[in-house]
Amino acid sequence: MGHIQEVLSSKSEVLIEKENKYGAHNYHPLPVVLEKGEGVYVWDVDGKKYYDFLSAYSAVNQGHCHPKIVGAMIDQAQKLSLTSRAFYNDKLGNYEEYVTKYFGFDKVLPMNTGAEAVETALKLCRKWAYEVKGIPENQAQIIVCENNFHGRTTTIISFSNDETARKSFGPFTEGFIKIEYDNLEALEKTLASSKNIAGFLVEPIQGEAGVYVPSEGYLAKAKALCEKHNVLFIADEVQTGIARTGKLLAVHHENVQPDILILGKAISGGVYPVSAVLANDEIMNVIKPGQHGSTFGGNPVAAAVAIAALEVVKDEKLAENAEHLGIILRKGLNEIAERNDLITLVRGKGLLNAIVINCTEDSDLAWEICLKFRDNGLLAKPTHGNKIRLAPPLVMTEVQIHECLDIIEKSLNYFR
Ligand SMILES: Cc1ncc(COP(=O)(O)O)c(C=O)c1O
Repeated sequence: MGHIQEVLSSKSEVLIEKENKYGAHNYHPLPVVLEKGEGVYVWDVDGKKYYDFLSAYSAVNQGHCHPKIVGAMIDQAQKLSLTSRAFYNDKLGNYEEYVTKYFGFDKVLPMNTGAEAVETALKLCRKWAYEVKGIPENQAQIIVCENNFHGRTTTIISFSNDETARKSFGPFTEGFIKIEYDNLEALEKTLASSKNIAGFLVEPIQGEAGVYVPSEGYLAKAKALCEKHNVLFIADEVQTGIARTGKLLAVHHENVQPDILILGKAISGGVYPVSAVLANDEIMNVIKPGQHGSTFGGNPVAAAVAIAALEVVKDEKLAENAEHLGIILRKGLNEIAERNDLITLVRGKGLLNAIVINCTEDSDLAWEICLKFRDNGLLAKPTHGNKIRLAPPLVMTEVQIHECLDIIEKSLNYFR
């Protein structure tokens, strides 16, 4: 804390203190108070400029305050913001057509946040299991992976193995079998163990766990195993989707089309909460009026914003840029790791990357390094103790990524 007090302006301190006093303490933010964002940059309340290397957990792939996306939001908000789904509106159908064609599915179910979309996918999978696959009522099981992160609702934390996320929130929802991530043998064994398996929920790269990239071929083989057992392959691409990993979806690296696709975050470019669940008719048609929904899901502003955000991804070739810059970033980080043994490992795909710091998971070193990054004009945050995620907006340039590598090296050298 002593270190933090030294570098914060009194303006920042007052604002942080307000959050401490009046807000629930459910986050532990890095001490920096932001008031403006544009493209790959954010500015704090004292006018200091930073590279954003978190991108709001990959929600701001298109860059902060993208004018086309913000413009779509303003135009629509001034015309019609919310109808609920009690009535039709003139934007939703166009968005539904656009997003389903964009990702190659028959239908979409629009929601708002990532966790809601995951909940939607789980409900959809269970209903399909009972009404189409023929699993006896209340017997359906969904396979999930250890060290998953799918959000914060009671059902989702029921199958988390993060004790901080679970402790004192029970009793939990049943119906989930946890297996090791990136372990096809475990998947095959579990699929064969029961006729009541409905789905396999997986992150194509485990983001929150510390950017764990599975072995090559894992996703394609897992999909094939699911097909063999008539089990739905459910991809949670809330963090990995929308060009982040160098393809439109991370499953595209292995030419996989999931049975259920979960999207959130960057589907709105970070300007508005939008999430979506996509599936083909055989699955989506099990949902009938009254069985699922949300007052805000599919509202006209969300629809207009999401179309604009998805257009930006294609128009500005963000997947290609993420792929290209990701290679440069990892190469640069590996070169730094050769000169500085504080980095023990560099991993990632596209612009979703992490460095593992040479310390124990309970050490403060990664946090201290992030404070040094901040002092030198770059914002990142540790995830799971000793890993630092490096995930800038995808609108970055080659010149900028080299400047960021210089900041990272300079900051790390401070701790040698
Ligand atoms: C893979 C994944 N799924 C779901 C979520 C939950 O999204 P939200 O915070 O919008 O509820 C996240 C958030 O980080 C995520 O990374």
